[in-house]
Formats: sequence, C-alpha cells, structure tokens
Amino acid sequence: MKGLILSGGKGTRLRPITHTSAKQLIPIANKPILFYAIEAIVAAGITEIGIITGETGAEVRAAVGDGSAFGARCTYIPQAAPQGLAHAVLTARDFLGDSSFVMYLGDNLVRHGIVPVVQEFERLHPDAMILLAQVAEPQHFGVAEVVDGRVIRLVEKPAIPKSDLALVGVYLFTPAIFEAASSIAYSARGELEITDAIQRMIDTGGNVVPHLITSQHEASVATWKDTGRLEDLLEANRIVLDDMVPRARAGGIADDVHIEGKVIIEAGAELRNCTVRGPAIIGQRTVIDDAYIGPYSSIYHGCTVRRAEIEHSIILEDVRIENVTGKIESSLIGRGCVVHESRRRPHGYRLMLGDHSQIELG
Ligand code: TTP
Repeated sequence: MKGLILSGGKGTRLRPITHTSAKQLIPIANKPILFYAIEAIVAAGITEIGIITGETGAEVRAAVGDGSAFGARCTYIPQAAPQGLAHAVLTARDFLGDSSFVMYLGDNLVRHGIVPVVQEFERLHPDAMILLAQVAEPQHFGVAEVVDGRVIRLVEKPAIPKSDLALVGVYLFTPAIFEAASSIAYSARGELEITDAIQRMIDTGGNVVPHLITSQHEASVATWKDTGRLEDLLEANRIVLDDMVPRARAGGIADDVHIEGKVIIEAGAELRNCTVRGPAIIGQRTVIDDAYIGPYSSIYHGCTVRRAEIEHSIILEDVRIENVTGKIESSLIGRGCVVHESRRRPHGYRLMLGDHSQIELG
C-alpha cells in the first residue's frame, strides 16, 4: 500500500496564520500536525508516501524533506489549485498507480493511529474503507449511513442527519476511486468532493465499508480532531499534551521555578522566577521569566515570555510577550509576533495586525 497525505488547501478558517504558512505545519505540542500523520502512516507499515501540496509546498518540503527522518520515502505532488479532495486524488494518479492507498488529511489528528484500520482493510479487501467517529453534532460533518456493515449513503453537512457517524479525515481506497472521481461534477463550492466520488462508487456497486474509531462509551473522548479551526487546534493540543510521555528536562531551571504536573522543557530553554503548570511544553531556547505558564500551553522555540501569563494556548516560533497584565488564554500567536504593554500616553491599544487577524479584548 501507499500513503497520500493532503497538505495543500486554502486554510481560510485559520487566517491570518495561513496567509504566510501551511496550516499543516502548525505545531501541536511543539511538533507539526503533519508529522503526526506521517508517523501514523509509517507505524501502519506504509513507507511510500505522496504529499499533495499547494501554495505552501516549498515550506512543507523543507520541513519534511525526503522522508528519511520518518523512515519513509516522500514524493511531492503539487496540486495546481485546491479544487477538492477528489481532485487531489486524481492529481496523484501517476504516483499511486495500481496500488491501494490510505489517504490522510494533513491537518487531521487520529489519536490512536491507524494500524488496526490498515489491517482490517487488508483483511476485508473492500473497494474503499472510510473511518467514522460518533459525534454530538453530526450536522457539521460529512455523515454516513451504514446498513448491514456497508456504507450506503454519504451526505455533506445534512440538516437532518440520518446517523451520528461523521467522516474522519482518513480513507482507504483501491484504484477503483479514480474511475469514480473522474465521473463526478464540481460541487456548488467549486470542488470535486470525495464524498461524491465515494457515493459514485457505492451507486455503481462498489463495496464501501465503515471502520468506527469510537465506541459508544468512548464518544465523549475525542479520538480524532480536524484542526481546521482555532478551537479544534487548541483541543488537539490538549489531547496530545495529555497523552504526552514525560521526558527528561533539557533546559536551565532556576531555583525559584515551580513546576507542577507534566511539563516538557526542551534543550536550551531558560526558566527563571516562574510557575509552569502542566501539561505544557516549553520549546528550545525559549526564555520564561517572571511569568506563569498554565495548563495546555505549547510555547515553541525561540520565544520570550516575561512578566506575563499564558494558558491554554499555542505560541509559535520567536514570539515575544512582555509586560502584559491580563492573562493570555485560548490563543494562537503566529511566528515572530510581539505582544507587550507600553506606558506611553495616551493609553490605548496600538495594533498592527495582518489581514483577517482576530483580537478579542477582555
Ligand atoms: P479542508 O480543511 O477541508 O480545506 P482547506 O484547507 O481549503 O481549509 P478551509 O476550509 O479553512 O479553507 O482540507 C482538508 C485537508 O486537505 C487540508 O490538509 C488541506 C488539504 N486539501 C488539499 O490538499 N487539496 C484540496 O484541494 C483541498 C480542498 C484540501
């Protein structure tokens, strides 16, 4: 089998971050989301991986390289325009050849990986297998109707859902998908939809089977996260920080530092006169001084947090946060941003924000 990771797209819901970089490279617990996808595929024994890229292709390529760091071989497949998931499959046709493949959305996180999924696909030999998760509000997702162990219908964001089974961003296909994807029309939003392609497979007699990744009693615990929106990214960050295995602390920690719970401190970080309450991760060369870092914070490399408080947030590379009185929480702060309070008069907010930035003043 081969792997196909989709790392193109528009990322409109995560602007302004996605104006300048790939959403799939946003770090979750200080590791790009995309890396979790690659690792999950490699763990399932698949090492030949194609990566669909869009405008941010160069950045994705620079981060992943040839795949050898993951024990994989990665091939980059530029998609001319983000015209849908089925369009991405067609774009990768030459790479995939006559191999079956797992398609993994590069901004999705599957908590327990896909090893049993791939094993079941190889055992059952269906034409396609789709991953499903029980969700509380299926009307916001692609929803599957399952009868006698087969998927009979897929509906995108139905007003009245026929089930609570949402489509997860991982699919397993045989080459039969190419025929189906080639014979569908563009949807109202101008994309070739993978749900339409799978429905076409079903309608032409294909055997499409479900693989449920949550059981009833697990439904309240997130086992999968599509990180297309800020709140989902923060939740993915919570899930990964909760699951994280503690590591030896690598940075410099002064005597006046209080660390509570699971806290990972990466090489070259410096902590002085602060409290860090885990689960949290402090990145390489980051300085935390006279500050409070609360649960579910991921502070990336090269940051400075001084006389400030941060909780439940993702802070990207080289951010400087200084002299801020109020607590910064449930936030995503992009690379190189500076947030500080000034004593200058007149008092007021002075902002220089990128297009589509969002500021909530409390
Ligand atoms: P989406 O999150 O559904 O789409 P998007 O990235 O355009 O985001 P938004 O809705 O906020 O504008 O895409 C799921 C994944 O698939 C994501 O990793 C991007 C990728 N993708 C492609 O590679 N090619 C495409 O044509 C599309 C639509 C998505």
